[in-house]
Amino acid sequence: MSEADAALMEASLTAVADAGIDIRHTLFDRFFAAFPDRRASFMVVDASSRRMTDETLQMMFGLAKGEGWVWPLVAELVFTHRAYGPLPIAEYDAFIDMTVVELGAAAGTAGAAAAWQRHADALKAMIRRARAEWESAMPVGMPQPAD
Ligand code: HEM
Repeated sequence: MSEADAALMEASLTAVADAGIDIRHTLFDRFFAAFPDRRASFMVVDASSRRMTDETLQMMFGLAKGEGWVWPLVAELVFTHRAYGPLPIAEYDAFIDMTVVELGAAAGTAGAAAAWQRHADALKAMIRRARAEWESAMPVGMPQPAD
C-alpha cells in the first residue's frame, strides 16, 4: 500500500476527467494495432472497452490503497476471461502497460507515471497468481495459452 502513490494516481485521474478525455478509444486502437487477431474476440467493443478500461484503472488504484477487494476481483476476471479463449499473459501485460501510457498522455503530467507503473506491475503479478491458482484448482478445461 502507498498513500503517496494513491494521491498521485488520483490527481492524474482527476486531471483526465477534468480534461474530458475518455482514454478507452486510443487505448483500444493501440491494443488492436498491436494484436489485430484479438479484434474478433470482441463482440461489443463499445461496452467492453468501458468496463475493461475502468476496471483496470480501479484495480491499480485499489492496489495502491491496499484494498482487499482487488484480489477477488482479479481472480474472477481471470476466470471469466476463459470464455474468450486462451489469452496469452503477454496480452494482459500489454493491455495494462498501454492503459498506464494512455492515462499518462491524457493527464499531461509525468509525475504519476512511476506510481501507476508500480501498481501495474503488482496487477500483472496478481493476474499470474490467479491464473496459476485456477489452473491448479480446476485443471480440466483450462485453456492452454501459448506462453
Ligand atoms: C486487467 C486487465 C483486464 C480487465 C480488468 C478486463 C475486464 C473486462 C471486463 C469487465 C469485461 C466485460 C465483461 C462483461 O461485460 O461481461 C471484459 C470483456 C472482455 N475482455 Fe477483458 N479485461 C482485461 C484484459 C483483457 C485482455 C488482455 C484481453 C484480450 C487479450 C481481454 C479480452 C476481453 C474480451 C474478448 C472481452 C469480451 C468482449 C466482447 O464480447 O465484446 N481482456 N474484460
